Amino acid sequence: MEKTATNPGVTRRVFLKSSLMGAGLALMGMAAPTAAARLTVAHPKRFRILQLTDLHFFSHEQELRDAFNARAVENMRKLVKGTKPDLVMVTGDVWSENPNGEGEARMRWAIEQFEALGVPWAFTWGNHDLVSDFTVAHDALAKANHSLYRGGASDGNYAIDIEDRDHQRVWQIVCLNTHRDGMQRAQQEWFHDLVKADPTPLPRFAFFHIPLKQYDDIWKNGAAHGMKGEDVCMEKEDGSSLAVLKAGGVRACFCGHDHQNDYAGLAEGVELVYGRVSRAGGYGADIFPKGGKLITVNCRTGRYDWVSITPDGKRWHPKRGEHREIPN
Ligand SMILES: [Fe+2]
Repeated sequence: MEKTATNPGVTRRVFLKSSLMGAGLALMGMAAPTAAARLTVAHPKRFRILQLTDLHFFSHEQELRDAFNARAVENMRKLVKGTKPDLVMVTGDVWSENPNGEGEARMRWAIEQFEALGVPWAFTWGNHDLVSDFTVAHDALAKANHSLYRGGASDGNYAIDIEDRDHQRVWQIVCLNTHRDGMQRAQQEWFHDLVKADPTPLPRFAFFHIPLKQYDDIWKNGAAHGMKGEDVCMEKEDGSSLAVLKAGGVRACFCGHDHQNDYAGLAEGVELVYGRVSRAGGYGADIFPKGGKLITVNCRTGRYDWVSITPDGKRWHPKRGEHREIPN
């Protein structure tokens, strides 16, 4: 299937289509990973990803819900307008639970909001993103016009190949479903198979919801810089995933889940980065203005940088050595 999307506000066009890599490898008798999505970018030297995380639509009480949902949507629009990303990467906890089977309707409402941004977008599952029928949800997420979601065949795990205008793959975005427990053996094995089946080693970023154990380690050992306002909730992730990701060429990981942590640091040569929480309202707003994380990649040199950004356009990146612990 081939799709074309136009990035509003800029003249370049991006072309999306499903990769045949998985099918091709299957024909060759190799383990077939999930078919990857493809995103062709006009300027691979400044490929821009806007990470949004923990939007938590529908999490407020009924009388406040519409207002908070509307504010979060307006914030998303401002962030997209201000950053003109090639890809909006949403790392989970988009809607809240599945009361009375309402999860699917909440998800479909969220999909409409992402579609309205008019920019290619992708999604990784958060622990609060619940529905009655995940098959239906995978399908709806994948079928949206600007969506690069391809997790239906592999429990929410999938990859996005970033291509230049000559359709050469220059980078890969790996999207992992960390469920409620963080990255576990099943996700490790899926990623291992993805890498093993790929004839071209690519630099990769991994996006997922629940942090790895090493997010905690880098704060405690002083390797991290940024702000920390709550414990690292790595759930049952035991620290074994990082070596798997590193062996597969992952340069950096971007997670969400903890609303009052915005820091980054190196662990075993892989940069671990928290997203900036994007929801409207909720705890931590006084210290952590809600926003997103803009990641800019030079796919030719492998260099990249990131900055937290708020809807009013303010940008924040921790200074080297900044290690600010905020009491709860
Ligand atoms: Fe979460």
